[in-house]
Amino acid sequence: MSKAREPVIGIIGGSGLYQMDGLKDVTWKKVSSPFGEPSDELCLGTLDGTRVVFLPRHGRGHRLLPSDINFRANIDALKRCGVTDLLSLSAVGGLREELPPGTFVVVDQFIDRTFAREKSFFGSGLVAHVSMANPVCSRLGDAVMSACESLKVSAHRGGTYLAIEGPHFSSLAESRLYRTWGCDVIGMTNMPEAKLAREAELCYATVAMVTDFDCWHPEHDAVSMDQIVSVLLRNVDKAKGLVRHMVPMLGSHEGPCRQGCHRALDHALVTAPDA
Ligand code: ADE
Repeated sequence: MSKAREPVIGIIGGSGLYQMDGLKDVTWKKVSSPFGEPSDELCLGTLDGTRVVFLPRHGRGHRLLPSDINFRANIDALKRCGVTDLLSLSAVGGLREELPPGTFVVVDQFIDRTFAREKSFFGSGLVAHVSMANPVCSRLGDAVMSACESLKVSAHRGGTYLAIEGPHFSSLAESRLYRTWGCDVIGMTNMPEAKLAREAELCYATVAMVTDFDCWHPEHDAVSMDQIVSVLLRNVDKAKGLVRHMVPMLGSHEGPCRQGCHRALDHALVTAPDA
């Protein structure tokens, strides 16, 4: 039988989002992980009585390149703090005319083109293959959409996030190629994060905040950090408002995840756990 659990909401803040406002009883805590160092200390607090754990993905002061983020340590540390539902906020480039800068995209698929990152908690004699067919928890996606509607934030449900290794932006040929693949947004950080969240049996969703048109758009300059930062600064308050609105919704959720995110390992383990 599925067990009930107290919802604890994890927030991973991307570029521009290094702290959460409005939390009560805040403590920054160093959490050790056998997988190494998380990006920073974790910020523990409560929002309207719901426990929240916040982690700035690049560290406070933005010290980590995407390839230098220890994704395993980050997800492991969040899990150790009791997180059940994980919302990831990330800046992305838009690969579609209909997704201009300022749009929030609640992606539902990923294509992982990263190649220099540890992607699994398994290995070293313990084998498991989790399903990534539906990598995003639809209950979290519903909550994001409903919060965006209340706050009148322009949001789009569904889309494919293409994860590149970076740190360089794409060439024009690559950007055009990804459009032919049906990708909608492009970023450097949500993989292997989504894979590890699934292995950790967390409910996971990404809010991809479009900051630019990458370099494919004939009427827009190729993406630059200046452009990303200026759009991000305009988006930060919207993102924080979104979190403030969503946390009580997720906190009042009772019962197990209908999609079974919390049981992702039930049919994934090949090696017997005590072997
Ligand atoms: N993050 C924000 N914009 C991006 C882009 N165009 N490519 C990769 N990562 C991004």
